[in-house]
Amino acid sequence: MAAASSSLLLLLLIAATAAALLSSPALSLTCESHQFPHRNLTFANCTDLPTLNASLHYYYDAAARTLSVAFTAAPASPRGWIAWGLNPSSTGMVGAQSLVAFAAANGSTVVNTYNITSYGPISESPISYGVLSKSAESSSSSGEITIFATLAMPHGSGAAVNQIWQVGSAVVDGVPAKHAFAPANLASKSTLRLDAAGEDGGAPAPSPGGGRGGNVNGGVRNWGSGLGLYGICVVIGVLIFGF
Ligand SMILES: *[C@@H]1O[C@H](CO)[C@@H](O)[C@H](O)[C@H]1NC(C)=O
Ligand SMILES: *[C@@H]1O[C@H](CO)[C@@H](O)[C@H](O)[C@H]1NC(C)=O
Ligand SMILES: *[C@@H]1O[C@H](CO)[C@@H](O)[C@H](O)[C@H]1NC(C)=O
Ligand SMILES: *[C@@H]1O[C@H](CO)[C@@H](O)[C@H](O)[C@H]1NC(C)=O
Ligand SMILES: *[C@@H]1O[C@H](CO)[C@@H](O)[C@H](O)[C@H]1NC(C)=O
Repeated sequence: MAAASSSLLLLLLIAATAAALLSSPALSLTCESHQFPHRNLTFANCTDLPTLNASLHYYYDAAARTLSVAFTAAPASPRGWIAWGLNPSSTGMVGAQSLVAFAAANGSTVVNTYNITSYGPISESPISYGVLSKSAESSSSSGEITIFATLAMPHGSGAAVNQIWQVGSAVVDGVPAKHAFAPANLASKSTLRLDAAGEDGGAPAPSPGGGRGGNVNGGVRNWGSGLGLYGICVVIGVLIFGF
């Protein structure tokens, strides 16, 4: 009896520890909750991004060299914006070739492109990737926005690209206003591998599961290494921003 109850206790402890690990805020399970049948769209892969409760469905067509994505996140406030982009020259925001979506004054959800050249106010402009399609939609129930886009990847793009994502709380006269500089906003960047399924977190992945795996809807969800990446990026953020 004593032996049975102590092994039960051990099982409960293991279960509680596992639950605590899985409920880490870095693991938001947003991939599972987003499907796009109303757009007749499916993506081979999806990754829950490590910060800002964002997810990226994506498919890279190596023959056509096109990257199709559906990026979903909630703006920091209902009248805010969401952004996703690739940075061909660096890992941060400056240099990012970005798509930013928000609700226009007439209520429709617009998505514009921005070549981000500084931390100052951004202005709409062409980007260095060919934008074969772009659109966005808002969910009135969840408050989330999804950006759909297909980008042409230039010859010589490597097997991995630097991606960034962001959310902001306001759009002033059609211009997305500066986002918050909380640790989660500074850590919202990672490497997207085009040659395989998954997102390269750039840091050792936590156990269990070896960091990679979990087949979801025919695609692969990468658990990433949110916390490790987060820690590194906070340090980088502190170095860059001086606080
Ligand atoms: C959905 O996509 C498939 C494959 O591209 C196509 O064959 C089909 O006609 C599409 N259906 C609609 C309703 O657009
Ligand atoms: C993250 O997103 C999911 C689904 O989109 C939502 O159910 C959940 O409440 C969000 N979590 C946080 C912390 O915002
Ligand atoms: C996506 O998933 C497919 C099928 O699982 C895989 O062949 C492909 O390499 C993955 N990666 C990208 C970037 O599309
Ligand atoms: C709503 O406003 C946006 C941005 O000004 C514009 O691009 C779009 O065409 C407008 N839509 C309608 C239905 O008027
Ligand atoms: C983006 O801005 C940089 C810096 O001003 C410039 O060198 C580059 O040509 C711009 N890219 C595009 C696609 O306009």
